[in-house]
Amino acid sequence: MSVVLRIALKDLKSDIQQNNIPSHVAIVMDGNGRWAKKHGKPRVFGHKNGVRSIRHVSEAAAELGIKYLTLYAFSTENWNRPAMEVNALMALLVETIRKEVETLNKNKIRLLSIGDISKLPEKSRLALEKAIENTANNDRMTMILALNYSSKWEITKAVKEIAQEVKNNVLEVGDITEATVAHHLSTNGIPDPELLIRTSGECRLSNYLLWQLAYAELYFTNTLWPDFDKDEFYKAILSYQSRERRFGMTSEQLLNNTTKTINEAI
Ligand code: IPE
Ligand code: IPE
Ligand code: MG
Repeated sequence: MSVVLRIALKDLKSDIQQNNIPSHVAIVMDGNGRWAKKHGKPRVFGHKNGVRSIRHVSEAAAELGIKYLTLYAFSTENWNRPAMEVNALMALLVETIRKEVETLNKNKIRLLSIGDISKLPEKSRLALEKAIENTANNDRMTMILALNYSSKWEITKAVKEIAQEVKNNVLEVGDITEATVAHHLSTNGIPDPELLIRTSGECRLSNYLLWQLAYAELYFTNTLWPDFDKDEFYKAILSYQSRERRFGMTSEQLLNNTTKTINEAI
């Protein structure tokens, strides 16, 4: 077999180490509009084709044993887009959620959302709430949709709640810790993502999970979201596995710690 063919057939999934799978992966699904333009179609066509990528990636993530997958579906800033696009996105949300609930249940995936969903059109909000309720008992993986989400909104809300607790004498200022802040974020109880993926070549966070991504590994790819398939996802996981996560320590310290753990285990 030629080298080229062998590379083409290379099974990326089998290169993934099972003992180093991130528990939480967050994604900025970007590039739908440019994908549509490339195909000479209106932007909505890109959003529709992006749904297929969500299906592939959620399946791949669940198969790998990833416990949480957070997807940026609509930012607070996205309300500034043309009304036609916003309406189409909201309609697509209802349609997709209704269609996908069965598959989510089949794959034992629980659905959650973060963001101010009270501002969504009633139809979208109700469909979302119903799907969250109908998938509440699934425990294989949690898929979190960030909808009308922005990190600055979330942090401001947390600050207000904490200030109120201090005002009501339920909390002392001196007792506020990082855990207090985390407790007031919409991701309360969910571990921070170890890996952030952003498609379409943009290298920014766009107001996404600023607190939670404090120590995440960042992975940027030029692939547009509708072209992002299982193999693209495996590539991101493999890149994550090639990183040394030092958390402020030195490489030598990490090596010593690993040796110590191995010695303790034998
Ligand atoms: C991401 O794709 C989807 C949403 C923001 C809802 P875009 O719509 O941002 O696509 P580009 O960045 O314009 O190509
Ligand atoms: C971020 O993408 C929001 C979502 C993917 C939902 P955008 O396309 O809206 O971000 P900017 O405008 O390029 O920063
Ligand atoms: Mg974009």
